[in-house]
Amino acid sequence: MGWLHWERFMCNIDCDTDPNNCISENLYMQMANIMVTEGWKEAGYEYVCIDDCWPSHQRDAQGRLQADSKRFPSGIKKLADYVHSKGLKLGIYADLGTKTCGGFPGSLGYYDIDAQTFADWGVDLLKFDGCYMKWNLLGEGYTNMSIALNKTGRSIVYSCEWPLYEWPYHQPDYSAIRKACNHWRNSMDVEDSWASVKTILEWTADHQNVIVPVAGPGGWNDPDMLVIGNFGLSHAQQESQMALWAIMASPLLMSNDLRDICPRSKELLQNRHIIAISQDPLGKQGYRTAKVNNFEVWERPLSGGRLALAVMNKYETGGPRGFPLTLATLPSWKICTPQCNVTQVLPSYKELGIQTLLSKLVVAINPSGTALLSIAPLKGDLKNQWL
Ligand code: DGJ
Repeated sequence: MGWLHWERFMCNIDCDTDPNNCISENLYMQMANIMVTEGWKEAGYEYVCIDDCWPSHQRDAQGRLQADSKRFPSGIKKLADYVHSKGLKLGIYADLGTKTCGGFPGSLGYYDIDAQTFADWGVDLLKFDGCYMKWNLLGEGYTNMSIALNKTGRSIVYSCEWPLYEWPYHQPDYSAIRKACNHWRNSMDVEDSWASVKTILEWTADHQNVIVPVAGPGGWNDPDMLVIGNFGLSHAQQESQMALWAIMASPLLMSNDLRDICPRSKELLQNRHIIAISQDPLGKQGYRTAKVNNFEVWERPLSGGRLALAVMNKYETGGPRGFPLTLATLPSWKICTPQCNVTQVLPSYKELGIQTLLSKLVVAINPSGTALLSIAPLKGDLKNQWL
């Protein structure tokens, strides 16, 4: 969990006319400060991550990457020290090809040097992009950088885009990807729009048989950043992104402006019930289990035999629609035998109490919104279950 600059701040390097929003050390220091003072760290957000456009166009005399000296006058090591002093971690970005997507120096031919540089600086996460690289060399490149990172002896989360760049040519080898990477992007870049969030969900559901089984502690599918708190999503759509990212066991990397975020978006991003589903220790990714009457049902198995259930209203007109939550028709209905305890987390927190397979709950769901529930089995002697 953390914050990543890309979707919100892109490759804004114009610090003369836009000093508050350009890619500079100030931006990450401000985000780090707010992560501590505004409850983000406490909620679990830990990584402050730099994306593309941070380096100088020239490597130094030793062939090492260096930060743009105007925008990062103190250098990355000092920035890492600062972020660490706040009890947070620092992420950085590089590219396995000849250039980054934004045209800055790539790491091809420099994997060992770059991995060592990042380790020396005290970096905690590397996002490794795949621009300007022959597609048939992606596997070798991503694996070699993984080896180079391990050789440094520093624990560095390794975030890959290997499958994203390989899918246009053939089905990626997910067991090799899981071996090398801690999380990996599969599909297109998220944008600040409902169309973009829907496309990512659709891609994920279409490929769930291939990608869901590989996810688990140590390696996760990454459907890209949370764009909650920006301009493009209604509140119901923000709830859908948060709920479904939790169901998908996704990294929760926000890309927004924490200095200026609407209180409802903040509350949603810090919702401890949703975060608990997202970070559930069983570490199983959920998947789409039904499409009915313009609703989509997604389920995620949780620890303790519990289940998270998300129902999204795909109808984008009118008002809230009721979804009859007939527990017996849920794919994982068995957990309600003989009884289960149902809690609604979104759109508002409500304890719906003890239910059985015969219960007929109806949840109201806003257009393009999502109801998120967690269901816990109640087993054993019914008379003693309250003891
Ligand atoms: C493509 C990636 O998919 C994005 O997330 C971002 O890192 C850009 N490249 C940066 O150029």
